[in-house]
Amino acid sequence: MSIALKPSEIVARLNEHVIGQETAKKTLAVAIYGHFRRMAGRNPDSVELTKSNILLIGPTGTGKTLLCETLARILDLPFVTADATSLAQTQFVGDEIEAILHRLLDRAGGDLAKAQRGIVFVDEVDKLKAVDGQSRATSGESVQHALLKIMEGAPVKLKDGRHIDTTHILFICGGAFVGLDHILTRTHTFGFIATQGGDDQKILERLNARIKPTDLLEFGLIPEFAGRLPIVTRLHDLTQDMLVRILTEPKNAIYRQFQAMLAADGVTLEVATPVFAQIAGLAIEYKAGARSLRGIFEEMMVDVMYAVPDHPAIKRVTINSLFEPPKLSA
Ligand SMILES: Nc1ncnc2c1ncn2[C@@H]1O[C@H](COP(=O)(O)OP(=O)(O)O)[C@@H](O)[C@H]1O
Ligand SMILES: [Mg+2]
Repeated sequence: MSIALKPSEIVARLNEHVIGQETAKKTLAVAIYGHFRRMAGRNPDSVELTKSNILLIGPTGTGKTLLCETLARILDLPFVTADATSLAQTQFVGDEIEAILHRLLDRAGGDLAKAQRGIVFVDEVDKLKAVDGQSRATSGESVQHALLKIMEGAPVKLKDGRHIDTTHILFICGGAFVGLDHILTRTHTFGFIATQGGDDQKILERLNARIKPTDLLEFGLIPEFAGRLPIVTRLHDLTQDMLVRILTEPKNAIYRQFQAMLAADGVTLEVATPVFAQIAGLAIEYKAGARSLRGIFEEMMVDVMYAVPDHPAIKRVTINSLFEPPKLSA
């Protein structure tokens, strides 16, 4: 298999869909590049390259799923998401995992070889705590063990009798890890190195932002599981400016989608610039990252979307404020 895209090219493609999160993009691009390298097998020194699964840490609605999804699409890799919380609620983790891999195979159009180099995103791994008094069989800890096994690489028997080998499947785990910063400030000592600012300060900040496996253990991750996620990267809270960009910039930005929907009815939609800031401001209050943007936008548009099909005379919709009714004109 050839390495189709260089890390910088992967980032450039991600930029078309994901706003901000530069560090995470870079880290993912480098990791996926290595992923292809490994699958290509040979390398000059015949050094065996071990798989590096990835942990994405970041608040809800900041683009974890979107990043993985987009990455998979850019690289034409089959992709599935799984929810760690629901894995922890089932009595039959093995069956669930088999089902996840089966979905991956479906996404690969039944092509086993293709599925075996796909991406599995397991969200909410921070909820897989080892809980005292809970039986091992139904605890988050047992889910970690089950995931660990397939992350390391194992043949998993599917319902149809075939085996899917997970050795080259890239596992990306995600979680909000609320309170992690608190742990970091307690466990990191780099802050005492005297620096003169500038570059030193930057390196220092990077070291301080680094998450150690031991920090993850505080969340109830078992050492073996944390150890299987050697690449840890963070996504950050989205600023109001970023939320505005999310509404308008990406190829399938919400604003563009509504413009396209109305254009199909021969209507031009024009939303004034300050409105985006109003929507973004409200979204920040909802504390769900970019997740609430669509709902707020939909609500703003509902009367328009209701009226337009009944009134072919409407040719233009102008919205000047989130708190004023839209202007409909011929
Ligand atoms: N950085 C971002 N750039 C563009 N859109 C984003 C970004 N973060 C979140 N979104 C949008 O918000 C919604 C939720 O994002 P998602 O990736 O599912 O968040 P997470 O997995 O971090 O909870 C998606 O519809 C996505 O399009
Ligand atoms: Mg998600």
